[in-house]
Amino acid sequence: MSSSDFRSDTVTLPSEEMRAAIASAEVGDDVLDGDPTVRRLEELAAAWLGKEGALFVPSGTMANQVALGAWTRPGDEVLCERGAHIANYEAGAPAALHGIQLWPLDGERGALDAQEVKRALRPDFIHCPDTGLVCMEQTHADSGGSVVPMEAMKAVADVCREADVPVHLDGARLANAEVASGVSAADWAACADSVSVCLSKGLGAPVGSVIAGGGAFLERARLVRKRLGGWMRQAGLIAAGGLWALEHNRSRLAEDHALARDIAGRMNRFEGLSSPPDSVDTNIVLLRVSDPAPSASALVAALGERGVQVYAFTADSLRFVTHSGVGPEDAARLQAALEEILGE
Ligand SMILES: Cc1ncc(COP(=O)(O)O)c(C=O)c1O
Repeated sequence: MSSSDFRSDTVTLPSEEMRAAIASAEVGDDVLDGDPTVRRLEELAAAWLGKEGALFVPSGTMANQVALGAWTRPGDEVLCERGAHIANYEAGAPAALHGIQLWPLDGERGALDAQEVKRALRPDFIHCPDTGLVCMEQTHADSGGSVVPMEAMKAVADVCREADVPVHLDGARLANAEVASGVSAADWAACADSVSVCLSKGLGAPVGSVIAGGGAFLERARLVRKRLGGWMRQAGLIAAGGLWALEHNRSRLAEDHALARDIAGRMNRFEGLSSPPDSVDTNIVLLRVSDPAPSASALVAALGERGVQVYAFTADSLRFVTHSGVGPEDAARLQAALEEILGE
């Protein structure tokens, strides 16, 4: 029996239909003459995000790093929320690749405070770095897939526009925010000058992300993608999976969100486990673990022995992520495993 894998929405496998789309994709040398499938994906992504253009890249990390490299110069500073993926999970790439420093600010469930951002913008003073960019994240992964409110994002965008500082949106899970909020991806993306989106998370493609924007940014982004080795040849073979995902898999994310809420409800029945139901906006459940439950790492091991895979998020919390590879039967299996481990 296969395991119930709640570790991440990156574990999804391509469906038969997606595999068929990949197998029959029309391809060309994207660097020499352009790849027709990559071009279709980039056009569709740009239209969906309401931007002038989009570039296909291998990963979400590269999409963000293309944006950072395109917007900044060495020595610049980038403002972001303390839990931001770019600050915590991109292996120091902003400093290693672009010579820039990050200035993390405290947020409320991932939302930056516009006045804090305003205060943190650097003055034009030779002793200070230049604020080259402000980065937001939607949904905010470290806050448990929270949807950052539109008013908060607009307020930050306004402050930045006034100061003439560009804004990048790490929209790795922007499709989840779109489905959960009913606000279009283009409206979310309008709060930023560039936006990255992962095709290989809840959308279910095996590989790929896009980075979208316009004008001089787009040209600069092409150059940075080239420098990072992300301009690929017959990339239509992988872009086809992303294209199929964007065309067919967006609305089904609502099922992942319902399953995540269902899981949170099941968890709260156990003493020592808590996940406030209103903390689940999308497809991520953060589960706080306290006495009398065993430690987070002991729970991960005990669940693993019962065929349920999950990550410890911190020393006292677990993270469950729902996706197309898990369903109600996996939530029931998780509950049964916990009943066995914790006693009823
Ligand atoms: C918010 C966020 N941004 C960026 C990424 C990076 O994506 P990738 O793993 O494709 O590099 C992730 C991956 O988990 C993410 O959660």
